[in-house]
Amino acid sequence: MRIYALFRPLAFALNAETAHRLTVKTLRLVPPRRPPDFPASLRSSLAGIDFPTPVGLAAGFDKDAEVPEQMLSLGFGFVEVGTLTPLPQGGNPKPRLFRLRKDRAVINRMGFNNCGQPAAYGRLQLDMRLPGIIGVNVGANKDSKDSIADYVNGVRAMAPVANYLTINISSPNTPGLRGLQDEGALRELLAAVQEAGAKKPIFLKVAPDLEKGDPERMIRAAIDNRIDAIIVSNTTVSRPPLRSRYANEAGGLSGAPLKPLALEALRRFRRASGGEIPLIGVGGITDADDAWERICAGASLIQLYSAMVYEGPGIAARIARGLARRLKREGIASIMEVVGTEHL
Ligand SMILES: Cc1cc2nc3c(=O)[nH]c(=O)nc-3n(C[C@H](O)[C@H](O)[C@H](O)COP(=O)(O)O)c2cc1C
Repeated sequence: MRIYALFRPLAFALNAETAHRLTVKTLRLVPPRRPPDFPASLRSSLAGIDFPTPVGLAAGFDKDAEVPEQMLSLGFGFVEVGTLTPLPQGGNPKPRLFRLRKDRAVINRMGFNNCGQPAAYGRLQLDMRLPGIIGVNVGANKDSKDSIADYVNGVRAMAPVANYLTINISSPNTPGLRGLQDEGALRELLAAVQEAGAKKPIFLKVAPDLEKGDPERMIRAAIDNRIDAIIVSNTTVSRPPLRSRYANEAGGLSGAPLKPLALEALRRFRRASGGEIPLIGVGGITDADDAWERICAGASLIQLYSAMVYEGPGIAARIARGLARRLKREGIASIMEVVGTEHL
């Protein structure tokens, strides 16, 4: 029996944020083991980094880099910690995290609660004894007078302990943050970040709530500023039809109802880029079929978070094995050959 089947009723009896804290605390007690071996067909390479599988943990689960090694041990091919801001901050008032069980979804308005970059840096420096890919997602403090400087400082500060860095300008829960996606602001931000000279790949994470022409503008700004990949997408502020009682809570929606939106956003970015810049697909991925569809639509890697709330952390290894089985069945030697095939 899957261990999570025993743990889940307890977790679901608690409010969502308490359950999350308990999960992380429990994981901290588990000594990290060597990650499982996966078939060579799943190996993926992006921005000069070799990923054992394309299935990663999305930002927001391990904001403070407390359990990255445990998550790698559980079968994630890579783990993105954060969002981390330069200074620690408490985030929005509680309650701010809601499970929409009937919709297999989550709404959050956490507001970048995190322990701050220096504390996470210390932890990442001390803890990292096992091999594994860890990305660090950085953001701006809510009260910052100069949010671009927060990103520059974040990239510079965290680069030594990161395999890659993610510039997160797509959280809906920090007022004004998504404004950095506008072309002028985005170009200024990306140029400043590159000037920081981090010497690590830089990924940009975008929202699924897009106006006409947004993907084209963002792609051009990213390519002109030598960004290594675009992560599509963060949570949505839109509300597709939902059944749960928390449906009208403010914040970003993730999980199953985000899937069509995130997939369409990915397709738009792929069409706009013609494959010129790698994409990472996130949003409502629940099983190997979802992952396969996202890879065909143009994702070189995928990430997930909400499905893990419902299915447990074993989901990463299950999806990876499902992808490997499908490759074998279809006689394809490498998952990298599948990327973007629906556009051929
Ligand atoms: C509780 C929660 C907190 C999140 N916090 C962050 C965050 O700090 N930074 C970030 O870039 N994305 C954050 N996300 C967004 C996820 O990384 C991901 O983009 C989104 O949830 C869609 O994927 P999913 O449907 O698999 O959850 C958060 C998501 C959830 C559910």
